[in-house]
Amino acid sequence: MSSLISVVEQRLDEPTTKGLARAVTRAIRDGALEPGQRLPPIRTFAEQLMLSPTTVSAAWQLLARSGTIRTDGRRGTTIAPTDQVGGDRYVRALRHESDVSLDLSTGTPDATLLPDLGAVLSGLSISPTPASYLDDPVLAELRAALLSDWPYAADDLVVVDGALDALDLVVRTLLRPGDLVLVDTPAFPPLLDLLEHRGVEVAGIPLDATGPVLSELETALAGRPAAVFLQPRSHNPTGVTMSPTRARALARMVGARDVFVVEDDSAGPIAAGEPISLGQWVPDQVLHIRSFSKSFGPDLRIAAMSGPPGLLSPVRRARALGQGWTSRLLQHLLVTLLESPAALGQVARARAEYARRRELVVQRLAERGVDVGGTDGINIWVPVRDEAAAVLRLASQGIAVSPGSPFSIDRRTVEAAHIRVTTGLVRDDHRRVADLIADAADAGAWTAQHR
Ligand SMILES: Cc1ncc(COP(=O)(O)O)c(C=O)c1O
Repeated sequence: MSSLISVVEQRLDEPTTKGLARAVTRAIRDGALEPGQRLPPIRTFAEQLMLSPTTVSAAWQLLARSGTIRTDGRRGTTIAPTDQVGGDRYVRALRHESDVSLDLSTGTPDATLLPDLGAVLSGLSISPTPASYLDDPVLAELRAALLSDWPYAADDLVVVDGALDALDLVVRTLLRPGDLVLVDTPAFPPLLDLLEHRGVEVAGIPLDATGPVLSELETALAGRPAAVFLQPRSHNPTGVTMSPTRARALARMVGARDVFVVEDDSAGPIAAGEPISLGQWVPDQVLHIRSFSKSFGPDLRIAAMSGPPGLLSPVRRARALGQGWTSRLLQHLLVTLLESPAALGQVARARAEYARRRELVVQRLAERGVDVGGTDGINIWVPVRDEAAAVLRLASQGIAVSPGSPFSIDRRTVEAAHIRVTTGLVRDDHRRVADLIADAADAGAWTAQHR
């Protein structure tokens, strides 16, 4: 018997699917099986352990869903790395050489366009210490301010530590390993990492100029997904904002199914487009997230998520057992900012400036024959001939951009290659920067033509 199978056999306490899955995880914990090690075929395992191939196959499915093993056509079934919390897309999207003079890879707002927090902080009245850890985690005045400016009549909301915190809570509490979820693509890399880490199956819904393509959603809904993740406006990376007509049609489709929709409005108040939500039509199926990172600063770590009680309650319960609530100090700060004419004026100026920077770069790219889609936000999604060549060429000119492949579900560039450029950070020299991007978009042409 192969030593690998005997390692599992020694830990097998019952000849069932769960017993076998437990034996494999024990062997990994003990160090008897190591990440990367390849498992023999199911039939060999079954014969040698005197189990049915169905039992072994079911155990493998269980282990694959929990992320313990990986099945990859050519390499067979291997033990998955244990030290990997989530995937590597997030890091790959942002990693670059450090000696750049213009970093357009980050997707972050321009610090010089953020409101001045100093004045607001010094006038802040400090809220009393909560009497109990189970006090209402949301400040009443913040709840009221947010709900009065929400894209639909939401029942209630939670305040969280950024949109990413909201996505993490949703993935942890409302999805189970093995669930199918749909995501508009190209997608936000950390969301793909979170979903992969949870062991859910992910299918992409491509976007056109006005949002997720209806026929694609219709087909994908037949696979009975548990959830659909969308970015309703200023989609990162494409800059697409959903039209109201498209939103209504999407709502009609999901309204006929047992599925919930998670809307990530990460641009929030700096988006030029109006807030939009399927919650207008199907509020009982929608979780709508609005981040204040781009408008008031990523370091505030604050966002809100609305939803019906059935979806928000599990999220609230999970949070109560961990961090409990978002500091009331931060909540006070946010509500003060939302009510400060000076801060709102700064946000409005930032919104206009981001739109101007985007337009200047996009227009010049168009003159150079490079058409980017989308209409809004701080990023553009630039089609390039060769992703690696484009990134490298810009790096050699001191400009960092994000490669496009981490935004794809299968980590490879399946359709055309792209790079993501944060135009929101291009303060001046728009024409020169756009020219360099256009040159980079064409880089690699020689290899492509002579392959
Ligand atoms: C689509 C998307 N979701 C979520 C986030 C993270 O937002 P937050 O800073 O609120 O966690 C970002 C940040 O760029 C984003 O682009």
